[in-house]
Amino acid sequence: MNANLEQIKQEIISGAQELQSAREVYEFKKKYLDGKAGKIGLLMKEMKNIAPEERAAYGKGVNELKEWALEFLGELDKKMKAKELQDKYESEKIDITLPAETVKEGNLHPITLVRNEIIDIFSSMGFEIFEGPEIETDYYNFTALNTPQDHPARDMQDTFYLAPELLLRTQTSAGQIHVMEKQQPPIKILSPGKVFRSDDDATHSPMFMQMEGLVVDKGITLCDLQGMLDEFVGKIYGEGTKTRLRPSYFPFTEPSVEVDCSCFECGGTGCKLCKGTGWIEILGGGIVNNKVLENCGIDSSVYSGLAFGIGIERTAMLKYGINNIKMLFESDIKVLDQLNDK
Ligand code: DAH
Repeated sequence: MNANLEQIKQEIISGAQELQSAREVYEFKKKYLDGKAGKIGLLMKEMKNIAPEERAAYGKGVNELKEWALEFLGELDKKMKAKELQDKYESEKIDITLPAETVKEGNLHPITLVRNEIIDIFSSMGFEIFEGPEIETDYYNFTALNTPQDHPARDMQDTFYLAPELLLRTQTSAGQIHVMEKQQPPIKILSPGKVFRSDDDATHSPMFMQMEGLVVDKGITLCDLQGMLDEFVGKIYGEGTKTRLRPSYFPFTEPSVEVDCSCFECGGTGCKLCKGTGWIEILGGGIVNNKVLENCGIDSSVYSGLAFGIGIERTAMLKYGINNIKMLFESDIKVLDQLNDK
């Protein structure tokens, strides 16, 4: 019988060597020491088959084996738990001396920044925002703006037609008509948005953004336009920047002007940016043609208006010194980061 007890002891010793985790130690322990159902518990049940004179020695042997197994497996359980804790610490260890990975911060796109800046400047002068549709009828984009079919000015803007009467707007000026049709003066709106033209080179893109301005009230003159634009260029290109008006032609304004600002790079002495002239062309504008007011049901003998259209990409290109409009659309993070640093 003692040989049997010794065999179980050896079985526990060699079986214990295979155990990998505290969970396995627990299961293994249960196999031997689970009350009367464990292998050692069952040994006690054998008592009745033992010769009476050997029973005392047998019982003592089983008890000793049980004590030993409890001690041995208890010890193993402790070691295993300590090892598991250590492994957990190792795997979760952080090297706080490692340099931290830098998280790249996002930025607003330069076009958005310039757009927001222009809106801020004109909002501070009391302009409200109106956003018209990108798909327009021929009427809103051209005819109501005093540019009927066959008008030579239509050639100035190469148009994407969707249907004979439907097109992608070529100018935010179309927004003027929407506003004036619905509202009687006083009107003071700013209309930002995308416009589309079949045009593609270093300074033109088939899609770009404009910002239209319109003021209609009693007694509005070109002086009001220049006063507002002086304020605008001073804020966007730097204090002291002035404007100059040159005669031009747009069907929807009479008189029409091309607006230049004094070169903010050289201060007017002549440089590469202003091509030696001291002036940079920045936008078109004028006094709203009476025909346009009348087309919208506004009495031109009582009211007059001023209008202007600013190219947002052009403004951004001037501000950031970019000579290719594509740089603004390619979304090259390296380029955009440099622009954001300015
Ligand atoms: N719509 C013109 C263009 O896209 C720009 C413009 C010129 C707008 C004169 C105006 C204006 O409101 O008065 O070329």
